This record gives sequence, C-alpha cells and structure tokens, in this order.
Amino acid sequence: METELLIEQLFNTRDLSDGELIQLLDESNPIDDALFQTADRKRRAFYGDEVYLRGLIEFTNYCKNNCYYCGIRCGNRQAERYRLSKEEILSCCKEGYALGYRTFVLQGGEDPFYTDDLICEIVSQIHHEFPDCAITLSIGEKSKSSYQAYFDAGAVRYLLRHETADGLHYRKLHPDNLNPDHRKQCLYHLKEIGYQVGSGFMVGSPYQTKENLISDLRFLQQLKPDMIGIGPYLRHEQTPFASFKNGSLILTLRLISILRLMFPYALIPATTALGTIHPNGREMGLKAGANVVMPNLSPVSVRKKYSLYENKICTGEESAQCRGCLERRVKSAGYQIVTSVGHVKKEFDHILEF
Ligand code: 5AD
Ligand code: FES
Repeated sequence: METELLIEQLFNTRDLSDGELIQLLDESNPIDDALFQTADRKRRAFYGDEVYLRGLIEFTNYCKNNCYYCGIRCGNRQAERYRLSKEEILSCCKEGYALGYRTFVLQGGEDPFYTDDLICEIVSQIHHEFPDCAITLSIGEKSKSSYQAYFDAGAVRYLLRHETADGLHYRKLHPDNLNPDHRKQCLYHLKEIGYQVGSGFMVGSPYQTKENLISDLRFLQQLKPDMIGIGPYLRHEQTPFASFKNGSLILTLRLISILRLMFPYALIPATTALGTIHPNGREMGLKAGANVVMPNLSPVSVRKKYSLYENKICTGEESAQCRGCLERRVKSAGYQIVTSVGHVKKEFDHILEF
C-alpha cells in the first residue's frame, strides 16, 4: 500500500501489520515530513502545544549491573563513581522547584548503597517538602514489595525501559544474570501497584533488526505504558560495544512519530541522547511528536560522571542555564513549556475535554 496512505491509517488508529510498520521504518522511503506532520497533528489534538518539564537528578553512578552498552556498567573500572546524599538531592529539588519544576526524576544505577529504607526516606522527605510535585523513580529492577514501599512513601511514577523486547536480542546486550522476562515482570508489577509507568528502548543498539523494533512496538501495545522514552544508541569507548556505530537520528524520529500515532495519550520525551546525536535533535523530536523534556538538575560537579555514552550534552551548564536553554529551544520548535505537574491524559480525559 502507498506509504502516505499508511500514515493516514495510523492517524486513524488502524493497527498496522508488521510489514506495514517495517515499510514506515524503511529509510529509502522519503516519508519523513508526512510522518512527522501527521504525528504533530495527533499530538496537538491530545496535548496542544504543551511541553512538560521533568527535572532529572542523577543521584548515583554506581551500578551492580554490567550491561554491555552502558558507560557506568560495573565492569568499567575507569568510571569515576559518585553518590549524592539525601541533603544534596533535596537541595537539587529546591533549586528545581524555584525554576518551575513540578516533577523530579531520581535516576541512578542499581546501587545497593541506597537500601529500600533510604530510598523511602528520600522519597518521603521530598514528598513532604514539595507536596505539589510528582516524584518519579528510575532505579532499575526491584522486588514488587520494594516498589510498593517506594509508592507508599510517595513515588507516583517509575521509568524502566525494557531496552529490547526480543529475548535473544536482550541476551546479546546483557550478561547472563540479567533476564528479559524478569524486566518485563517488573513493569507489570509497577502497573499493578498503581504507578504511572514509563518504558522504552534504544534505537540502533548493536545487533538490532527492524523486526526487533516491531517487537518493541508490540510489547508496548501489551503493556500500555503512560510514558515511552526512546533515544539513539550512542557508543561509549569503555564498553565492549565501543566499535559499534551510533543509532540513526532519522530512525529515532520516525519511531517517535509512530509511537505518537499508536499511543496518542503517551508522554514521550525528546531525550538527551537525541540532543547529543544532533545539536537540534530535541527540537526535531518535539516536532516529530515528543511532548516532554527532561533537563538536568544534578549538581554540575557530578554531571560528567553520569556518562552512559560519550559527548553527553548539558554536563557543563548550571540548572538555571539548562532551564533557559530549553525554554528557548521549545519555543523555537513551535511549542511552549508548561510548569504543571503534567500527568498523562488518558483517552477518557480527552473525550471529556474536547
Ligand atoms: N546509548 C544510548 N542510551 C543508553 N542508555 C544506556 N546506555 C546507553 C547508550 N550507550 C539508556 C538505556 C537506559 C537509559 C537510562 O539510558 O536505555 O535505560
Ligand atoms: Fe542543558 Fe541546553 S538544555 S544547556
């Protein structure tokens, strides 16, 4: 079928076949403008021109895992490790609050130093000091009872990318002790508890095929996450994947558009990885259907150390600079930053509003 017609059908929420989706991912098909514009139409119907802010606090770069693509894997002896104290995390929140942030994302490697009790203490103190803010955690795979404890302490959102939905591909990206089914199970546990859940994957990770990407989309259709984060795979010298090339900007943008059309209600960030692969990558991401930006709120002294991949942007800028920079970038792309808490709009809300 004519590719432009497929895009229109996706807009009208027809579930495309695997083959049809692969057609949309074929970079020899010159469909970018049509796809991005159609996704933008969908995004504006659901979210207008609003872009939501999430303040990202990267509070530890210790990690017990050894994922082959990641610069802070435990096997990287050259990584300079750091941990933020509860007080340092709270002071990031304070600074962020003054800058208009109403969501704080606490992200870190899987670091056993932060016991469940400590995480709960940090979460509940943020919750008490900033009761009008949403607390998002992104600290990896935990037991259901741990997730429940964080939720009871005041966390309402959780980000855990599934990374790749295909079991065999997962095995190529991770050591044997990491299990794709366990990771998926975690996502379902988080949903059962009542979190707003975010998942996602890397685009162009080593050994990834177009079919793997289709599996990612199908897995997301089953999971129905509230948030979907994707970004291009970016190389890091101190990993076993140092010789693999970066993922593709265009393919990432196309997938953002496809995600917007398949999951109109979703909160989709224009990620730091997109801004790293191209100077205007985040603006392009917004125009392709993304509606969230996640500026860095970590202390400047540690930013370079949270190095998942090379040349990461925003490592030298103060939080206020990043805030201002993003405001300008979002405006130049034709949208506006809003400082509300920015919860997901489910289809039901949408019907009530329009
Ligand atoms: N390139 C791009 N993204 C990466 N991530 C980890 N390492 C890399 C890399 N080398 C992503 C993973 C993880 C998120 C926090 O960052 O998808 O879930
Ligand atoms: Fe950090 Fe532009 S967003 S400097």
